[in-house]
Amino acid sequence: MQSASPISQMPHRFVLVGFMGAGKSTAGPILAERLGWQFVDADHYLQAQTGLTIADLFSIQGEENFRRMEAEAFAELYRGRKLVIALGGGALESESTRSLLDQSSDTCMVFLKAPLDVLIERCEKQPNAAVRPVLRQRDVLGQRFHSRLPHYERAHITVDTEGLHPEKVVDRILHLLVENSYALPSTLKAIAT
Ligand code: S3P
Repeated sequence: MQSASPISQMPHRFVLVGFMGAGKSTAGPILAERLGWQFVDADHYLQAQTGLTIADLFSIQGEENFRRMEAEAFAELYRGRKLVIALGGGALESESTRSLLDQSSDTCMVFLKAPLDVLIERCEKQPNAAVRPVLRQRDVLGQRFHSRLPHYERAHITVDTEGLHPEKVVDRILHLLVENSYALPSTLKAIAT
C-alpha cells in the first residue's frame, strides 16, 4: 500500500502509530527530548479533557463514541508544532484521522512494529494491562491487529521494535529520517547520535 503524502522537509510533528504494546508512549518522550520538542500521549490528553479513564470512556460511552472523541482530540492536537504525538492503537480506525495524516506534508508518521504475541506479552507485563478494554477482547484481537496493519503500514518510517531498547528505537527513527531525506543530515547531526 502507498504511504501517506511524502514529506519534503524537516517535519513539524511526529505521530507514532502501532498496536497496543508497540512502545509509542515509551519511545515518544525520548524522541521528543532528543528533538527538544513536546510529547503528548493522545489517550492522556483525552482522559484529561473528559476526566474519565479510557476504560470508563469505553464502558460509559461505548467504543463508537470513544473513537469519535479520540478523532476529535487528535484533530486538536494535530495543529501543534514541534510535537511528538503517541496515538492510541485503534486511532487509525477513524477515517478522519487517517485522512488528516494522509494529507499532511509536514507530519512524519512512524510505525512501531512487532509481532502480535510480542505485543500481547509486553502489554501483560505492564501494570495498566487491565485498563485496556481492547486487550481483553481476546477472541477478536488477532482480527483487529490484521485489519489495522495496512493503516499502520502507510507510515513514512517503520521500525521493527522486537528486542530493541526504546533508546535504540529512537536512534532508528532518526537515522531513517535522514536516510529517507526527510530532513537535512546537518539538521539532525546533533540529535541522531
Ligand atoms: C486501544 C488502544 C489504547 C487505547 C484504548 C484503545 C485500541 O492505546 O487508546 O484502550 O483500540 O487498540 P494504546 O495503544 O496506547 O495502548
